[in-house]
Amino acid sequence: MPAYAVIGGQWGDEGKGKIVDYLAQNAHAVVRYNGGGNAGHTVDNDKGVFKLRTVPCGVFSTKTELTVVGSGVVWRPDSEGLVKELKELEAKGVDFSALRIDCASNLVMPWHILEDKLDEESRGSLSLGTTGNGIGPAYADKHKRVALRAEELLNFPDFGNKFRRLFFQKSQSDRRIGKHLRNCPGCEACKLLRDSRLYLSRVEYTMNYLAGKFGNLANLICDTPPLLYNLLDRGAHVLLEGAQGALLDIDHGSYPYVTSSATGSAAAAQGSGIAITDIKEVLAVFKSYVSRIGNGPNPTRIGGNLEASLREKAAEFGTVTGRPRNLGWFDTVMAKRVLRMNGATGVAITRLDILDGLYEIGIGVGYDCHPGPCQDPSHALRSERVRAQIDYLPGWAGNSANGCKLDAELPHNAREYVKRISCGVPIKLISVGSKREETICVSPVW
Ligand code: GDP
Ligand code: IMO
Ligand code: MG
Repeated sequence: MPAYAVIGGQWGDEGKGKIVDYLAQNAHAVVRYNGGGNAGHTVDNDKGVFKLRTVPCGVFSTKTELTVVGSGVVWRPDSEGLVKELKELEAKGVDFSALRIDCASNLVMPWHILEDKLDEESRGSLSLGTTGNGIGPAYADKHKRVALRAEELLNFPDFGNKFRRLFFQKSQSDRRIGKHLRNCPGCEACKLLRDSRLYLSRVEYTMNYLAGKFGNLANLICDTPPLLYNLLDRGAHVLLEGAQGALLDIDHGSYPYVTSSATGSAAAAQGSGIAITDIKEVLAVFKSYVSRIGNGPNPTRIGGNLEASLREKAAEFGTVTGRPRNLGWFDTVMAKRVLRMNGATGVAITRLDILDGLYEIGIGVGYDCHPGPCQDPSHALRSERVRAQIDYLPGWAGNSANGCKLDAELPHNAREYVKRISCGVPIKLISVGSKREETICVSPVW
C-alpha cells in the first residue's frame, strides 16, 4: 500500500487529527502537506490531549519512523511557532526525533501576521474572519516569490540580512505597516517587528534549541521527498495529513471565505513532493454534522436553541482562536461534490456520539435557489443567502453511539444515518468519542 491521503471533507475541524493519530499506529511516515498555524488538530491518546498546529499527528506513533512538515506548509520559526509545540511535546515525554522539515517550506514572518490583521481591519464588515496567523500574506509572498524558506535558516547571518532587506521592502510597498508601528500601543506583531534584533535573536535561540535536539539543524531541515521515495519504494505506509477542509480550498471552496492553500488530495502530492500516482487511497473525514468558524456561507445552519445547545454539548469552539463554531446539519450535496473532486476511496465519520439524544436529525439534500430548488453546490458556495433544503431522519434517542466498539453495536438508526451521509463511498472508520480507542474500524485501512 503506497500513500494514503487524509483530507477534511467540510469546513475544517472534522477530526482529522484524531483520525491521523489512529491511522498512524500503522504508518511508517506521516506528512503534513498544507496550511500552517491556522490549523488546530486535536489528538487525545495515552500521552494526553494535544492541539497540534504544525507538527504532524503521527508524532505519537512508535511505528512511524518519519514525520514530515512538507513543502506545502508555512510555519513560524520564532519561539511562538513550531518550537513551542515541540516543547509541549517534550514536556509530556513525546519523542519527536523522527521529525523532518522540508527545506522548501515557507516561513511566516511577523509582517505577515501584521498584514493579516490590517487586511482584516480594512475589509470591515466584509472581513473573512481569518485565524490571524498570517497565513494569507505568507502564501501570497510565496507565490510572489519573495518569501523566506526554511532552508535559509541553515545560514543564519544570511537569514538576518534577508530578513532586514525584505522588511525594508515590505515597509516601502505597504505604508500601512510603518503607520501601524508608529501608532499601535503594542499588538503581537508590533512587539516582533519594532525590534528586529530582538526578533532575530529569538529565532536564533529557537534554531539553537533545534540544532541541539537534532545534532545539527541540517538534520532537521532537509530535502524530504527522497526520504519518502525510499519508504514508498519499499512498500511502506505513508500517510498524508491535510489541514483545513475541502470547502476552505483556495480554488474550490467558498471563495473568498477560504484559506490560502489548496487543501484536497491533489495538494497532498504537491505539498509533500510525491507523485499523484503514489496516492492510492483518499480518506475524506466528515463530521456527522458541519461546523464552520470565521465568516462565509453555511447553508445547512441549524440556528436557534438547538444549535446553541449542540455547541455547548460538543464544545464547538475554535481550537486555535476559541471562537464559537457555527453548526449545520450534514450537507449531502456538498459532500458528494467533495467526494468526487478528491477521488475519495473511503470516508471516516466523526463525532457520531454528539448526535446521541436527538429524536430527529436533519440532512441537507438540495438548495432553495432562484428560480427554483437545485442540487448545485456552487450556488451555496457563492452566496451566504442560499439556504439548504433539509430532510429529517429519525435519531436514536435513548440509545448511544458512544461506547460502541463495533459497527454492529451501533443503534440501528445511527447505522442507517452513517450509511446515508457516506453517499455510497465505503465507510472505513466511525468515531464515537475523542479518544483514540473510541474508534470503530468498519473496514481496515492499511
Ligand atoms: P481537526 O482540525 O480536523 O483535527 O479537528 P479539531 O481537533 O479542530 O476539532 C475536532 C474536535 O472533535 C476535537 O476536540 C476532537 O478531540 C474532537 N473529536 C474528534 N472525534 C470525535 C468524536 O468522535 N467524538 C467526540 N465527542 N469528539 C471528537
Ligand atoms: P483545521 O486544520 C477551521 C478558517 C478561518 C477563516 C478562514 C481563513 O484545524 O481544520 P486563515 O487563517 O486560514 O486565513 O483563515 O479559514 N480556517 C479554519 N477553520 N479549521 C481550520 O483548520 C481552519 N484554518 C482556517 O476560521 O474562516
Ligand atoms: Mg481544527
